[in-house]
Amino acid sequence: DQPKLLAGRQVRVTAGPTHEPIDPVRYIANRSSGTQGYAGAAAAQRLGAKVTLISGPTNLSDPAMVQVIRVQSAREMFDAVKAALPADIGIFAAAVADWRVATESDQKIKKDGNALPTLKFTENPDLLQTLAKKKSPKRPALVIGFAAETENVVENAQAKLKKKQCDWIVANDVSPESGVMGGSHNAVHIVSKSGVESWPEADKAEVADKIVRKAAEELAAKPTAV
Ligand code: CTP
Repeated sequence: DQPKLLAGRQVRVTAGPTHEPIDPVRYIANRSSGTQGYAGAAAAQRLGAKVTLISGPTNLSDPAMVQVIRVQSAREMFDAVKAALPADIGIFAAAVADWRVATESDQKIKKDGNALPTLKFTENPDLLQTLAKKKSPKRPALVIGFAAETENVVENAQAKLKKKQCDWIVANDVSPESGVMGGSHNAVHIVSKSGVESWPEADKAEVADKIVRKAAEELAAKPTAV
């Protein structure tokens, strides 16, 4: 039995893709499977934390003894996360859609002779950026963002760390050759103010376990949120 390094801690995890509706039968999505986020939720639970997982649509089953809230769109995910705060640790692993369709139709869009439909987009709220702000009243003590990049992985992650004011960015290469998106393994760089740790490729469960152990260490001396 492992020591319960996160006993008494509240952990919130976002995971999976979001689905952004076009009309009642169509949506825009991305290739995230949710595996890394679900593994994070399970790992934190095993260390004794009380975990709420806010998940976009995935094919994964609920991790044992984790409260799971299922949502579809970025806006629903945002509302669910806000309602689940305060917390000690926020792990923002979801691949939230940056944009949604501004021209969502109430009715199924029909083929109309030769005219092709046009979609207009509008920006979604950035959950991580909004909730990680130092001024955000319910900011978790430790905010962990993820960066999915296809090039200049560490540089882009460092820029994201600054812009989003989170404590760490877990950066990974999601270019098709990496096999990360939808795959079982991940090679990540932990980017923080104190530098960059590059971890060897490992099973997503193992990566998750290392992340939550590092988080437990970071919070060890700090009081709990609730
Ligand atoms: N994120 C979020 N809400 C969004 C977009 C992203 O919470 N609307 C979070 C993700 O969960 C992740 C981090 O922000 O923790 C980085 O996501 P990523 O898609 O890599 O970054 P973007 O800010 O979308 O930047 P870009 O797509 O331009 O690389």
